[in-house]
Amino acid sequence: MQQIAVLTSGGDSPGMNAAVRAVVRAGLNMGFAVKGIIRGYQGLLDECFEAMTSRSVSGIINQGGTILKSARCKDFYEDAGVARGAEILKRHKIDGLVVVGGDGSYRGARKLAEQHGIAVVGAPGTIDNDISGTDYTIGFDTAVGVALEAVDRIRDTATSHDRLFIVEVMGRHSGHLALAVGLAGGAEMVVLPETPTDVEGICRALKQMRERGKTSSLIVYAEGDEFGSSIELGKQIEARTHYSVRVSVLGYIQRGGPPTANDRILATRLGAAAVDELAAGRTNVAVGVVNQKVVTVSLEQAAEQRKPLRRDLVELCGVMAT
Ligand code: ADP
Ligand code: F6P
Repeated sequence: MQQIAVLTSGGDSPGMNAAVRAVVRAGLNMGFAVKGIIRGYQGLLDECFEAMTSRSVSGIINQGGTILKSARCKDFYEDAGVARGAEILKRHKIDGLVVVGGDGSYRGARKLAEQHGIAVVGAPGTIDNDISGTDYTIGFDTAVGVALEAVDRIRDTATSHDRLFIVEVMGRHSGHLALAVGLAGGAEMVVLPETPTDVEGICRALKQMRERGKTSSLIVYAEGDEFGSSIELGKQIEARTHYSVRVSVLGYIQRGGPPTANDRILATRLGAAAVDELAAGRTNVAVGVVNQKVVTVSLEQAAEQRKPLRRDLVELCGVMAT
């Protein structure tokens, strides 16, 4: 192995820069030349390669976003696009590729490995924490912290005005982010894609809480919930209870800003581990951390196996909301 490349793909996440820095410096340390591919798979197809040095990644460990930029690339969903990407990697003499991204990015990476024999290792970069084979994804801890700060602030108004607030957080099809924010923010309820959503049941529980003396409440709502709309849920709850309801959609604020210490450390460990995997001749795998230890699973498992929510944490949320 003489030359490796790294790209960031899908939704950006805080800590992607730290991961890129780790790949570059670990790779250089092993004597490899390292290329950065700009704008994910789109940049690969556009042949946007940049030679990386230690200085290319100076001063970025504390920055959110990704200096390599990220993109969603339609052409890569087609086999022809993947084939073109593989041909470009071979022509540029890239012996190994690190893909930092979420499950979609892993699917593209898997095709490069399985259909074209490209050596590829994935590192989990997404705020959603929905990747199997790792307890945490890079960016999740930061996003939880940002959403939590918003929840704490909103709680002040909820309490002062005896209101019910619904705070919508990201997470795509999974409730990992919502559950963590709800548990840490002391939410009265969390509405999650992994559990059924029953408006009547929610209203009954809210009324019972009111009878027990709660005058305000806060619900954390995962954007991917089957109900479909936090705003509509708010309207239906207002119509069925005495609560004055307000809805706050946190949006992209959750995806930006400086990564936490945990995310920086995770990204540094996983970026370096991805290079170790390539150097050892392993491919079609993703790196992660389980019980604080770096582990490797197949890209297939990482991308396709649904990561279950911690049921004990869901139950704990319920117990705390009394
Ligand atoms: P994330 O990686 O954060 O889950 P996406 O699902 O948008 O984000 O995936 C990022 C990119 O990965 C897509 O824009 C596409 O280029 C590529 N990709 C996603 N799914 C596939 C797939 N099934 N086959 C090939 N490429 C894919
Ligand atoms: O995967 C990260 C994420 O922020 C999800 O939580 C969200 O559903 C999605 O990306 C938004 O994607 P886009 O940036 O394309 O709007």
